[in-house]
Amino acid sequence: MSANMEFVFPKDFWWGSASSATQMEGFSEVDGKGKNIWDYWYETEPNRFYQGIGPDITSQFYTKFIEDIQLMKETGHNSFRFSISWSRMFPNGRGDVNEKAIVFYNHVINTLLEYKIEPFVNLYHFDMPMAMQEEGGWESRSVVDAYVQFATTCFSEFGDRVMKWFTHNEPIVPVECGYLYGHHYPALCDFRKAVQVGFHSILASAKVIKVYHEQSLGGKIGIILNVTPSYPRSNQPADVDAAEKADLLFNRSFLDPSVKGRFPAKLVDMLQKENFLPKYEAEDLKIIDENTVDFLGINYYQPRRVKAKESMSNPDAPFMPERYFDYYDMPGKKVNPYRGWEIYEKGVYDILKNIQVNYGNIECFISENGMGVEQEDRFNNEDGVIQDDYRISFYEDHLKWIHKALHEGVNVKGYHVWTFIDNWSWLNSYKNRYGLVSVDLQDDYKRTIKKSGYWFKKLTENNGF
Ligand code: NOJ
Repeated sequence: MSANMEFVFPKDFWWGSASSATQMEGFSEVDGKGKNIWDYWYETEPNRFYQGIGPDITSQFYTKFIEDIQLMKETGHNSFRFSISWSRMFPNGRGDVNEKAIVFYNHVINTLLEYKIEPFVNLYHFDMPMAMQEEGGWESRSVVDAYVQFATTCFSEFGDRVMKWFTHNEPIVPVECGYLYGHHYPALCDFRKAVQVGFHSILASAKVIKVYHEQSLGGKIGIILNVTPSYPRSNQPADVDAAEKADLLFNRSFLDPSVKGRFPAKLVDMLQKENFLPKYEAEDLKIIDENTVDFLGINYYQPRRVKAKESMSNPDAPFMPERYFDYYDMPGKKVNPYRGWEIYEKGVYDILKNIQVNYGNIECFISENGMGVEQEDRFNNEDGVIQDDYRISFYEDHLKWIHKALHEGVNVKGYHVWTFIDNWSWLNSYKNRYGLVSVDLQDDYKRTIKKSGYWFKKLTENNGF
């Protein structure tokens, strides 16, 4: 620890970064991997993807993971989150396991451990195997069972060494993007299906938590949620009510069942009134109630700014959550000039305090926080090192609020940035770069540590700044 540091973090704080299989691995057709919805969509509609770049071209972690893990060490990581690709493990979603996938993930886990980087392993990051999507994806109960089989296999193959597991990353995203707003495959706008998908994701999570706990492998299992604070435009009751509804639909719909084992009564009432409750079996609620998470990962990027609806929506239009609220553009907000997203650092503190006060101060960590930048190579210096001072400030400004929460007793155990290396991002492909390390797609995926990567090393070595 160096002298004169204002923001000191506890010993053993988890410093690292997060990633996902589809965004990192590449080689989507290699060594027996089956197709997932992204591979399929790219194959059938490549024009949906920025510059026509699909998930087969990523930072090629599948072959470059040893070099990457060495770079993680060089940038001061003590932990790293990746996801296991369901369709690499089970090309058909269920049935015979792909032995080559087991070899690959064992190699990754063992290499991380060799470098004293703790593996944090997530089981589902937006990557439904195509064979399972054909059965209805998360809408279907049989897919929930297949997912439990996949997770159980992961626990028995890797659970002797992996001590931190997650059932999902941002499960509200497939609900919103896949079933409400048509952005991700299957690109629907169907509130009823969206509710069913959300419910089955929670049920799948609880079933997998049950299996994990029954196996007594000595680790922990949690979920990663993008808890997006929902701020009302004013203190007027109508605005406050609108913000509460957005919070219920997009945050508490996953947070409450994951941590408390039950859905918020107000949310159930809302859905019931509109006749939108999902189909479920009585036993499901018991499973959800009895199998809550051991800890929580929180992804935070930007808040939701909400106001009351100013005009009545057309009652004949298909039902959408926006029937209850509108978004507004907050005047004077701080914005990331290279991507357009709002930057509101205090949001991370508000989330952590909410977890402390309303969710039993459950153990948690910031599992993603980051700043995307378009055309980031314009910030290269003559040695090709990106001078991303804006990202360093972004991280420091968020860490100050996390530090404050910590000192007010929040049980926050770590900070993972999104992300270690520039990677492929869903429809945006390589448009926005987020890494501590850059990747040159034109020069054999050459890796170069950015200024923020050196800063991160110093941060973690000093355990503060
Ligand atoms: C959240 C998601 O987990 C990740 O997949 C995505 O690329 C980042 N946010 C950046 O938008």
